[in-house]
Amino acid sequence: MKSITVLPSLKGARVLVRVDYNVPIAGGRIRDTRRITTSFDTINVILKKGGTPILIAHLGDSMASLRPVATFLSKTYKIVFVTHDVTDSHIASIIDQVPKGTIVLLENIRRYPQEGKNGIAFAKTLAKLGSYYVNDAFSVCHRKHASVVSVPKYLPSFAGVQLQKEITALSSVLNNKKHPFVFILGGAKFDTKIPLLKRFSTMADNIVIAGAIMNTFYKEAGFVIGKSVTEEGFSKQIKPLLNNPAILLPVDCLVTRKGKTVAVTADEVEQQDVIVDIGPQSVALIKEKIMKAKLVVWNGPTGWYEKGFVKATTDLAKACIASKAHTIIGGGDTGAVIEKIIKESDTKKIFVSTGGGATLDYLANGTLPGITALK
Ligand code: 3PG
Repeated sequence: MKSITVLPSLKGARVLVRVDYNVPIAGGRIRDTRRITTSFDTINVILKKGGTPILIAHLGDSMASLRPVATFLSKTYKIVFVTHDVTDSHIASIIDQVPKGTIVLLENIRRYPQEGKNGIAFAKTLAKLGSYYVNDAFSVCHRKHASVVSVPKYLPSFAGVQLQKEITALSSVLNNKKHPFVFILGGAKFDTKIPLLKRFSTMADNIVIAGAIMNTFYKEAGFVIGKSVTEEGFSKQIKPLLNNPAILLPVDCLVTRKGKTVAVTADEVEQQDVIVDIGPQSVALIKEKIMKAKLVVWNGPTGWYEKGFVKATTDLAKACIASKAHTIIGGGDTGAVIEKIIKESDTKKIFVSTGGGATLDYLANGTLPGITALK
């Protein structure tokens, strides 16, 4: 896999760049711009070498428009937002008219059903729009979509700067020799996280179970979980893990009870309670582990962050900053919650992946289809 930075010149060349601008937008406002700003290094390299970046991105699976993203990009770059059908024969002449030093953003590529179906004719049509292809969309590399795995078959293809940073950071976890290694697993969607848990159950020294996943573990361990969010059908996977000495099941949790939030031990949860986060005793114990760790890998918030229960996640993020441990945050919701804290601390030893599902898949399998396609 070659980096786009190795090409001496891109003078006059159109460079197709797969980026991931699948960002949360509410009321026309982008709530988290990380996926956009992390693509700037690659865009700048291409502009500096005299090329025209033609950005290919998606937003959701629907007809959603990337216009708010185009507006955001226009604060930094001269940009042409192309809403014209990319399969129309006029598209090349439209792109040809773009002045030098300007970037092009194509409208949501998932508006074309052939993208998701990995249509070969569609990939060839896209490939004709450029002379080079760059993948800087780590977070969509788990999808076997036309712009991810097939366009690179038809053009000289390269890795973008962010893609390389992701691979460097995440592959260091897979080749880890540093101990103690603490793995924190929170959030929900347990089925997507089982492969990761399996892989790290022999590699990590401590595996902290948090988030809605903790409720499912509590239930399996025989505790009352009241009206808490839980997932069914994972007994077979959880039972053996309960005997794994590396697993740290929080000793206490926060529950909402009669309109109040209270901290209780795992065996004090009542039938009407809703578990919303890990408790203060557990935070103190996990902090201790983090302070002694050499490597921390963290996926998923510890609490119900959509409802504002972010204190434990924030406290643990601060511990990661204070500790000497190299920390990798598995993107998605965890990244969004702790980004502000990381920015304020200006730390360089915490890597926040831009990936959600892609990060989980990479850590579980050691590669992704979009990465293999560049080799
Ligand atoms: C993501 O948000 O994880 C990526 O953009 C991939 O999106 P998808 O899950 O809709 O394919």
